Amino acid sequence: MEQVIPLRKKRIGFLASGRGSNFQAVIDAIAAGEIPGIGVGLITDNPRAYAIERARNAGIPVRVIDYAEFPSKAVYEEELLAAMRDFQADLFVLAGYMRILGQEIVREFSGRMMNIHPALLPAFPGLHAQRQAVDYGVKVAGCTVHLVDDGTDTGPIIIQRCVPVLQDDDETTLADRILAEEHSVLPLAVKLFCEDRLVLEGRRVRIRP
Ligand code: GAR
Repeated sequence: MEQVIPLRKKRIGFLASGRGSNFQAVIDAIAAGEIPGIGVGLITDNPRAYAIERARNAGIPVRVIDYAEFPSKAVYEEELLAAMRDFQADLFVLAGYMRILGQEIVREFSGRMMNIHPALLPAFPGLHAQRQAVDYGVKVAGCTVHLVDDGTDTGPIIIQRCVPVLQDDDETTLADRILAEEHSVLPLAVKLFCEDRLVLEGRRVRIRP
């Protein structure tokens, strides 16, 4: 008889800088039993981030590491790295974390840190991706979940979803259409990770059936 070995629930840490709707989508999926994981904590660089309230409502511990209070990025990142280690997380999810992480952090969490970006990478990396897409005049836009490497939005792609760009779109209307996809694709990527179904081959991510 086939023996089914239950998965150990993965410990998931989050970094977010603002509204936190992607963070909410993932913790909702965890609460619904769709992801074999536990949200172990949220770290934010912004004391006014709405994500903080979302974490508190869900009973998830919050660490505020206010970027503005540090004399340099290097000192800020020392504190950030220490906080990340404290979580003993299997996975870190960058859910609207709006800073570029330094090499030491990227290296330490290589293969177990994912980011959601509101564009079809490798098009439109960096800030204001939706505005870049509207200004460029592309007809299709979307979002990407990728593993984090030491470039800006250059890591191996886990999943992408596309949406049409409509004639009268501006940055906001396009961002809203993309965001609806982000909220389904990020929990899916986290679920696949937690089910040990992501296999990295070179820079290609294979999804085990
Ligand atoms: C999302 O659209 C996310 O893709 C984007 O910020 C927004 C955060 O929204 N991230 C980036 O642009 C990262 N370069 P949220 O705080 O409601 O999840």
